Order: sequence, then C-alpha cells, then structure tokens
Amino acid sequence: MNIKKIKEDFPILKKKINGFELVYLDNSATTQKPIQVIEAVNCYYENNNANVHRGGYELSRESTDLYEEAHKETAEFIKAKKMEEIIFTKNTTESINLLSFSLGEKLKKNDVVLTTKIEHHSNIVPWQQLKRKGIKVEFVEVTKDGKLNEKDLEEKLSFKPKIFAFTGASNVLGTVNDIKKLVKQGKDADALTIIDAAQFVQHKKINVKKLNVDFIAFSSHKMLGPTGIGVLYGKEELLEEMPPFMTGGDMISKVSCEKSYWNSLPWKFEAGTPNIAGGIGFRIALKYLERIGIEEIDKHEQKLLNYATKEMQEIDGIEIFGPEKNKLGIISFNVKGVHPHDVSSVLDRKGIAIRSGNHCAQPLMEELGIKGTARASFYLYNTKEDADKFIEGIKEVKKIFKVD
Ligand code: ALA
Repeated sequence: MNIKKIKEDFPILKKKINGFELVYLDNSATTQKPIQVIEAVNCYYENNNANVHRGGYELSRESTDLYEEAHKETAEFIKAKKMEEIIFTKNTTESINLLSFSLGEKLKKNDVVLTTKIEHHSNIVPWQQLKRKGIKVEFVEVTKDGKLNEKDLEEKLSFKPKIFAFTGASNVLGTVNDIKKLVKQGKDADALTIIDAAQFVQHKKINVKKLNVDFIAFSSHKMLGPTGIGVLYGKEELLEEMPPFMTGGDMISKVSCEKSYWNSLPWKFEAGTPNIAGGIGFRIALKYLERIGIEEIDKHEQKLLNYATKEMQEIDGIEIFGPEKNKLGIISFNVKGVHPHDVSSVLDRKGIAIRSGNHCAQPLMEELGIKGTARASFYLYNTKEDADKFIEGIKEVKKIFKVD
C-alpha cells in the first residue's frame, strides 16, 4: 500500500487548519473523499443528470444505468446474491428505522427485540419505538473491557427474541464482534439477525451470503463515499414479504384511488427521487476500496493502532478504553484530570481532528461509568507521522493542564 500516493488522492488533506497541515483522525465519524469520488459526482451533474426510472429519453436512461450500477457494485462488495437485495437509504440510521418499522409490523405484544449495550444510538432508539406496541427491548451486557458478555448473551437469547440486532464493531471502543458466531447464535434461537455494519465493512471483509445474515446496514460516508447515501442489505425472500417504509413516487407499480401495488425490489423501498449522485459517487468509493484491498487497509490500521497504543502507554495518566485485541484502529481514551472536549480543543489548535464526547453511545458510557472519551480513529490515508503528531499533542495537553 503506497500511503504517499493514497494521500495525494485526498485534496482536503492538503488543507491547513490553524496554520498546521490537517491530521484527520475522526474517521469513525466520517471519512474524507478521494478526488475520484468528487470527480464522479461532478461528472454526473455535468453530463448525465436526469431523474431515474422516469424518462423514455437517453439522458434518463444514462442516469438510471449509472444508479443501478451502483446497486450492483454494492451487491458485489458485500457478496449479496443480486442487486435486488440492495436498498439505498439515507444512512445506517434510516436503514435500521426501515427495519424497525417494516419488521415491527409483524411483531406482537410481549415479543422481544434483543440488542446490546455496546450499540450506537442508531441501533437502540429505532427499536425502542416498538415499545409503543408493547414489544420488549432487551440488552446484552458488556464486560469492563467493552466486549459482549457471553454468558448474558446466552441467557438473553433463551428469551427467544424475534430479532437480534448487534453491531459489527463498536464506534466508541473499536471492539470487533465475532459476527459469524453471533449470527449463528441468533439463528439457533430462531431470531432474525441484523448487523449494524456502519463501522465494519470499511475495515473487514464481509460475505453476507456465506454469513447467512438476514440484514446488514451501513453508510457510504464512512467508506470514502458521499454523505446522504446508506445501504440496507436484506435477503430477497424477507424483503419481498416486508411492507415498505416510505411510500409515494417510484416505489409503486400501480396506483388507484382505492389501492396501490408495490414496485419490484429494491425500488419498493426507495420512495421518491433518490440520491442519484450520492449513489454514483458511492460506487466509485467502493471501487477505490476494492482496488486498495480491505485486508490491506485493515493491516495498515492495525500497524498504526499498535504503534500509537504503545506510545500512549508510555505516558502517565492516560486511560485507554476497550479490549486489547480484536479491535479496529480506534483509540478511545481519557487524560486524567482533563475533560475530553479540552483534549480535542488543544489538538485542534495543532490541526489534529479527533472526536470527543459520548459518541452517540450513552448506554455504553453509563456501563463504563464515564461521561465521555476522546477518540482517535485511523484510516487508510493516515501515516506514522500523523500518529506522532497526535502523541505529541497529548503530551502538550498534559503540559497545558499541568497534569503530570
Ligand atoms: N457514528 C459516528 C461516530 O462514531 C458519528 O462518530
């Protein structure tokens, strides 16, 4: 992997922040975009812009073909059976809302949905909405080092949940779940299995067919693609049976004043004019990732993670949260005596971008007994020099706040 060359593809990384070259370490929140993606979006608007599935004219056919190609590329990326199983949404949150609504229609009072305490709010709050129908939401406990408590998981699965929705990897701690084992455990308990893969697919290869998972959700913007485009993968036979979430234009095959009939998959779940340009940019982001190779990216992140973690362990008064092994290139930490927002403010003065706060995972924070953390998250364009600047920045925080 030629990092120097990769870095050149990302125009924003040349930007100066507060007089310093940007060191972008908030990749779990969103990733930067390579020039190839930016140009693909521009090129679409310059050359092919027209609505999809509408016109019997050349430009609309071009736009439709490009948009459908994006579905095909996504299916290939996660090894889905066909593009009919790929629904474009706005983001992971919308994908999970779709599932909560459509699967929720079939659930009955006292049915159980099982999720975990390590989840992002996007895999908690949509399920809580089902409580209005008397559905129970249960949570698998987490261990002190941020892994799922296996004993508790077995116990909660014995409640025979109808749905088991869990994250592939924690956005806060980087914990990578054993998705193969979890899907099997969910299936053995006769639950529908859902993976929130928003933090997973850009770091780890996934094969949904082999995995036999029922649904996965993820977002383009966390994998070099544009914002406003997300994915819901679902098994065709399940999607066929589910009612649509949003209704209106394009998702129908026939409408009369009395009744409407749904369009075929995946369009049944894509109401209204979709984010065509976003989908087209996303396709190019996927091609970019495929060209570099997800396994290569993962190896690179692991190197940075190990290096930065070792360096941080040399500094007194730093607490790192999460497991020691099987984690993404994420370091969630606190500097003793300094608020996480102050840590990020000091780093920002040097052009280093990290996130601080509860990371949209308040139940996890409660479990860990903290209000928040500072979090650095690496991706393919980060270098050892970035890690060094980050470590120097933390030393500076300690000096400024006199916490030796
Ligand atoms: N889910 C994103 C994060 O972890 C926003 O920062």
